[in-house]
Amino acid sequence: MTDLILRAENLDRSFGGIHAVNDVSLEIPRGTLHAIIGPNGSGKTTLFNLITGHTHPSSGRVEFDGQDITGMAYAKVARKGLAKSYQITTVFPLLTVFENVRIAAQAAAHSYVFWRPADGIKAVTRATEEVLERIGLAADRDVIASNLSHGDQRRLDLAIALATSPRLLLLDEPTAGMSPTETAATVELVRELNRDVTILMIEHKMDVIFDIATTITVLHQGKKLFEGAPAEVKSHPLVQEVYLTGSL
Ligand SMILES: Nc1ncnc2c1ncn2[C@@H]1O[C@H](COP(=O)(O)OP(=O)(O)OP(=O)(O)O)[C@@H](O)[C@H]1O
Ligand SMILES: [Mg+2]
Repeated sequence: MTDLILRAENLDRSFGGIHAVNDVSLEIPRGTLHAIIGPNGSGKTTLFNLITGHTHPSSGRVEFDGQDITGMAYAKVARKGLAKSYQITTVFPLLTVFENVRIAAQAAAHSYVFWRPADGIKAVTRATEEVLERIGLAADRDVIASNLSHGDQRRLDLAIALATSPRLLLLDEPTAGMSPTETAATVELVRELNRDVTILMIEHKMDVIFDIATTITVLHQGKKLFEGAPAEVKSHPLVQEVYLTGSL
């Protein structure tokens, strides 16, 4: 039996007349990097929101690390070790890089018990510094977040997600709006993070994920169009059709 960190079964969600996610199932083995691709409006973000509890599915089931989390609020899901980095950034613009990450690390540390408050503060500070080091933002720790470049703000977004010590990290277009150089650096970072965190990642640019993904799911109009290894996806005629013409 495969060791699954996430199992989503037959997820479904409509908004008015739009069937945003139509009977989608996913199985994600621990340690992998699973990518979701698809044209604009194909249901990628909605699928993420159904998994994280930001949106309730009209039917279907989500199991995280063997536990049913269907319909559970995101705050509770996050405490169980599932973190999401947003397509729209959640950085506090007027706080420093360090403060932004510390808030996330502190929220995660609430589940631990310390004998003295000072030990808790030290542990949170250490965790924050480790994350900044890992993400490559240590030198920018005292910079006000709104003064960072767009690429560094997205890195900060990642750092915030990572500070919660997740076992599954959901990234919604982490390279959106980035220059080619920033994109390459983010891809490297994601690859590095995947050494100890399972990653489920939405990406619009196909070339970005072909190198790093274990498995790719292609969504089209809310449905799973195809799923397979990058090479299979790349050469699949239906996928090429969707990407070249934008429709089937
Ligand atoms: N809260 C909502 N209310 C109404 N319609 C919605 C809502 N959220 C999503 N939709 C619709 O559901 C469909 C899927 O949207 P979704 O944001 O999941 O697509 P996406 O694949 O993430 O697109 P993009 O690549 O542009 O980020 C779209 O037609 C969208 O307009
Ligand atoms: Mg989206």
